[in-house]
Amino acid sequence: MRAGQNTMDVTSLRPATMEDARRLFDWVNDPAVLETKADTNSKIDWNVHCTWLSARLTDPDTYLAIIEVSGAAVGQVRLQPGPGGRHIDIFVAPGHRGRGIARAAVAHALSEIDERPVIAVVLDGNQGSHALFLSLGFAVKAKEEGRTIYEFGDAP
Ligand SMILES: CC(C)(COP(=O)(O)OP(=O)(O)OC[C@H]1O[C@@H](n2cnc3c(N)ncnc32)[C@H](O)[C@@H]1OP(=O)(O)O)[C@@H](O)C(=O)NCCC(=O)NCCS
Repeated sequence: MRAGQNTMDVTSLRPATMEDARRLFDWVNDPAVLETKADTNSKIDWNVHCTWLSARLTDPDTYLAIIEVSGAAVGQVRLQPGPGGRHIDIFVAPGHRGRGIARAAVAHALSEIDERPVIAVVLDGNQGSHALFLSLGFAVKAKEEGRTIYEFGDAP
């Protein structure tokens, strides 16, 4: 699955490569980002990260795109198979938030992949993510302790 085959007016997506390893590493290890992770909140080791990224980039079922604004990398959007559907993960660098970049990037990614449903797991307290997925038409599928499971599109 190739990311970023279309373009958006202001915000664009391009496929991630191994050259993005450092920026993805820095983003995922931001303490504020680790707190939003549903499955782990401990710092990720560089070698573990590189092995993970290499596997993601060669997995045909993973969609991993870098979000760019005016040619500068400002975030990432990733979809990959998980429990109940294709799970989405989104990040926009702090200095670029609140400008609709995440919404444009997720909407674009959803237009590029056909597989449904898409699942978002959002921790309680992550207000930006709750607002983001609701505004894009995700519906609450389940509420679990400390988190909400959102679903976009019908199950096959
Ligand atoms: C969540 C995140 C991706 C939002 O990125 P963004 O580019 O600022 O989002 P947008 O500007 O596209 O905003 C989308 C919607 O979310 C709302 N929103 C964004 N940040 C918000 C916040 N901190 N509190 C409340 N609402 C927020 C916007 O108002 C907008 O809603 P609206 O259409 O009703 O006005 C970004 O804050 C981030 O990267 N956070 C850390 C990583 C993370 O939590 N990822 C999600 C894990 S699933």
